[in-house]
Amino acid sequence: MAKKENPFGAAGWTPDRISSLDGKTFVITGANSGVGFEATRILLTKGAAVVMLNRNAAKSAAALSELTNQFGADATVSFIRMDLAELDSVREAATEVLSQAPKIDALICNAAISQTATRKLTVDGFESQLGVNHMGHFVLSGLLYERIEASSGRMVMVGSNAYKMGKKKIHFDDLNFDEKYSPWHAYNQSKLAQMMFGYELQRRVEAAEKSVVAQVCHPGASRSNLISGDVSMTNKILIRFIKPFFQSAERGAWPEVLCAAEADVKSERLYGPTKRADTAGPVGENEIAAHALDREAAARLWQVSEEKTGLTWSP
Ligand SMILES: NC(=O)c1ccc[n+]([C@@H]2O[C@H](COP(=O)([O-])OP(=O)(O)OC[C@H]3O[C@@H](n4cnc5c(N)ncnc54)[C@H](OP(=O)(O)O)[C@@H]3O)[C@@H](O)[C@H]2O)c1
Repeated sequence: MAKKENPFGAAGWTPDRISSLDGKTFVITGANSGVGFEATRILLTKGAAVVMLNRNAAKSAAALSELTNQFGADATVSFIRMDLAELDSVREAATEVLSQAPKIDALICNAAISQTATRKLTVDGFESQLGVNHMGHFVLSGLLYERIEASSGRMVMVGSNAYKMGKKKIHFDDLNFDEKYSPWHAYNQSKLAQMMFGYELQRRVEAAEKSVVAQVCHPGASRSNLISGDVSMTNKILIRFIKPFFQSAERGAWPEVLCAAEADVKSERLYGPTKRADTAGPVGENEIAAHALDREAAARLWQVSEEKTGLTWSP
């Protein structure tokens, strides 16, 4: 199939398209590392205020110190502790965000874990990748929704090319992989879930004629700390060999900054790099595989997410 023309020109979208984000507030998850850290840096460069929601206080202090070294002691960046693997922590962090941020111009759901070696359950009983990557963000999004709507803000889901690999479906009959756990299939499912949630949110916001913009993107293959820590030795070795060929984490951050701040975004799009099987290169629009736009599955996922997290919400 012929590739679509890049709507941002042959060089693709770059942060140069944004002149100033002065007076705007961005809330981003998993911003002490990798793509989220670089997105925070870009937003600060444009004059925005950024609230980082991270799980690790020491790593966050190091990230804050690097940012204040670059932007000065009065850099408009702060940190609230939040562990997406514990819904109580998500609820506490959301309360803190609402008390600190009178408006939210964009929430970027960026944090994730990938390839967890063995099947683990979060405190709330979800397979860890589904729990952190989707369920935690589902609850955070619901708890911050009203403030985002009051701010005519945006909600950005950071997906992955992994959504179009493996089983390409939500395992409604075995969400937690009780039967046969595979780190890869569990990651694929969690990223597909995030993306389906993003498109369903977009449809609901538009149907309800709300002034919220929901977008979905992915960073391609970017050098970050993903696939480290609790992953198999095989994956550790594999990532060590292939990572040098990845693009920088800064380039990986561009699609999420685009979704959070670019004026000219459209509905039912997947923003990401457009070369080398959408893993690198100019940022533009990627083809969306049909299963990510399955409306029936997305509506079911929303309902199941409400039931399992105990939070019922909709635009
Ligand atoms: N890099 C790639 O090639 C690639 C490809 C496709 C998609 N992505 C997506 O890009 C996004 C950013 O990932 P990255 O590549 O920048 O990886 P990264 O460097 O590992 O960053 C992930 C961030 O998520 C945080 N996180 C993990 N578990 C958390 C939890 N339970 N609660 C709160 N925060 C948590 C991490 O915190 P800690 O530092 O405490 O672990 C870290 O700040 C993810 O959504 C990922 O799925 C990345």
